[in-house]
Amino acid sequence: MHSNCLDCDNMTEIIEVKDIVKVYRNGVKAVKGISFSVSKGEIFGLLGPNGAGKSTLLKMLSTLLRPTSGTATIDGLDIVKDAGEIRKRIGLVAEKMILYDYLTPYENLKLFGKLYSIEEKALDERIDDLLKTVEMDKWKNERVKNFSTGMRQRINLIRGLINYPEVLFLDEPTLGLDPHSSVEIRRLVAKLNREMGITVILTTHYMEEVDALANRIAIINNGEIAALDTSENLKRMISEEKVLEVKITNSAKAIESIRELDCVRDVSSRDGELRIYGQGENFVDSVIDRIKSSDSRIISIKEIEPSLEDVFIKLTFGGE
Ligand SMILES: Nc1ncnc2c1ncn2[C@@H]1O[C@H](COP(=O)(O)OP(=O)(O)OP(=O)(O)O)[C@@H](O)[C@H]1O
Ligand SMILES: [Mg+2]
Repeated sequence: MHSNCLDCDNMTEIIEVKDIVKVYRNGVKAVKGISFSVSKGEIFGLLGPNGAGKSTLLKMLSTLLRPTSGTATIDGLDIVKDAGEIRKRIGLVAEKMILYDYLTPYENLKLFGKLYSIEEKALDERIDDLLKTVEMDKWKNERVKNFSTGMRQRINLIRGLINYPEVLFLDEPTLGLDPHSSVEIRRLVAKLNREMGITVILTTHYMEEVDALANRIAIINNGEIAALDTSENLKRMISEEKVLEVKITNSAKAIESIRELDCVRDVSSRDGELRIYGQGENFVDSVIDRIKSSDSRIISIKEIEPSLEDVFIKLTFGGE
């Protein structure tokens, strides 16, 4: 329905973030003026390396942390002035799981439900409903302490849904899960979005996660948005990118000379193997010419297919 929200001009923006900044007390500028908006029903991915500022951004949007400057609204409500009202409409599944081991899923969910003052009977119905959605209804009355990490994360996920939020914030929802459980959690997030119409903002380190789930992706690095687009467009952007993997003798001298080429964007070197990133028809020929004229001999050379990971690296570490 909303597989490509970029094409839907008339989609309602549910989240609007303008120039948001967070400077922690210790002086760390974790978020340096980020702006974007998210449409109702969209799954929006925030992809970035450790320390990029993803959690800080999510904490500000979910009213846990006050921005140093800038603004953000959810449903037209201001995250600072209307924090109380916003909390009723959002769910947050933070990096660390919050579950009481000695309680059952039912007891855990009941506890969190009560924080929202949901009426007893309605709350019981919701709990049953949510447990079914994540296929954990059989485990309703078993203690959480015996659950696998994947099972815990499913309960943790619906904990963030107990107030039937319009917007769900997920901070690294599959961190520490095995591949099978990760696929399971992704499937559930897609289902919640599809069936309950929940808008989802998720952060992750994993390209395949945003690739599989998100309508649009913002690549975040060092407190800033390095790129924001659909995964198709991000991939198209790199389809013009060429990557050569070469092994040569006497590489130190050659690297300098290759770097000077206009068609070369970057050269990295690991264990004597070079990765050369660049663009254009003459890229491969030019690189080979340079290697030859720098008294180096080619031991092996191959052109490799760039992945979303390469875009990610290019945008987040490019130029360093
Ligand atoms: N409470 C805090 N006080 C001071 N600095 C902090 C605090 N929380 C985070 N930081 C710093 O802010 C920067 C951004 O951290 P943040 O946790 O937002 O990144 P992240 O993208 O979520 O990283 P990760 O992928 O590791 O979870 C980092 O340099 C971090 O050390
Ligand atoms: Mg984080």
